[in-house]
Amino acid sequence: MKELTIRKEQPGDEKKIHALVEEAFATAERSDGNEQDLVDALRRSEAWISELSLVAVADGQLTGHVLFTRAEVSGETVLALAPLSVLPAFQRQGIGTALVREGHRIAGNLGYSWSVVLGSGEYYGRFGYLPARAFGILPPFDVPDRNFMALKLREDAPKIAGVLHYAKAFGIETPEEERKISESRIKSGKIRDARDLRET
Ligand SMILES: CC(C)(COP(=O)(O)OP(=O)(O)OC[C@H]1O[C@@H](n2cnc3c(N)ncnc32)[C@H](O)[C@@H]1OP(=O)(O)O)[C@@H](O)C(=O)NCCC(=O)NCCS
Repeated sequence: MKELTIRKEQPGDEKKIHALVEEAFATAERSDGNEQDLVDALRRSEAWISELSLVAVADGQLTGHVLFTRAEVSGETVLALAPLSVLPAFQRQGIGTALVREGHRIAGNLGYSWSVVLGSGEYYGRFGYLPARAFGILPPFDVPDRNFMALKLREDAPKIAGVLHYAKAFGIETPEEERKISESRIKSGKIRDARDLRET
């Protein structure tokens, strides 16, 4: 790979992005097989931020894509990083890293304070992501802490606490009462995830 450019998705990229996400996840460790449809559904939704659908162009070919969309924690907007895709033939050459870093830079400049991701703790730890629970952000599903992570994008990020409410396209509902738990209840350690709320 001689030249790598990261740029915003442009009109006309949609079909290529769909195909590349599908190919990247076809051999992924974890996949529900619908990541490419999720991107299309998010593009049609209010969660879409056109500046934060980024593609990697390596030697003239679309080889990677990253998407950050709007999500919510206790009424505050946060970003959800998903999905991140690099074509198998181009993996382990720094393309994923370049996409994520550029996304963080743009997001911070746009004024977004937090990014949340579900994925490999090892991979996303490299960018400074920490278990989201440490910040008071809880997953809306049962998942090990190391796989549900958050990153502060700006020094002046406001404190937030609550259950992450994903955009509708993700198909993960967070009931209204679960969106309103207080920081103190989270910090008390009694609330581990959304299931505990249903039981208390
Ligand atoms: C995960 C993915 C985006 C990484 O992209 P990439 O361009 O290969 O990543 P980079 O080259 O920037 O970084 C590679 C490093 O990350 C590590 N890495 C890659 N995938 C990893 C994974 N799933 N878990 C842990 N570490 C991983 C590699 O060990 C590599 O480190 P090394 O080169 O020092 O050995 C890419 O492998 C991919 O598209 N996978 C399929 C889809 C997927 O699983 N997406 C992530 C969903 S959370």
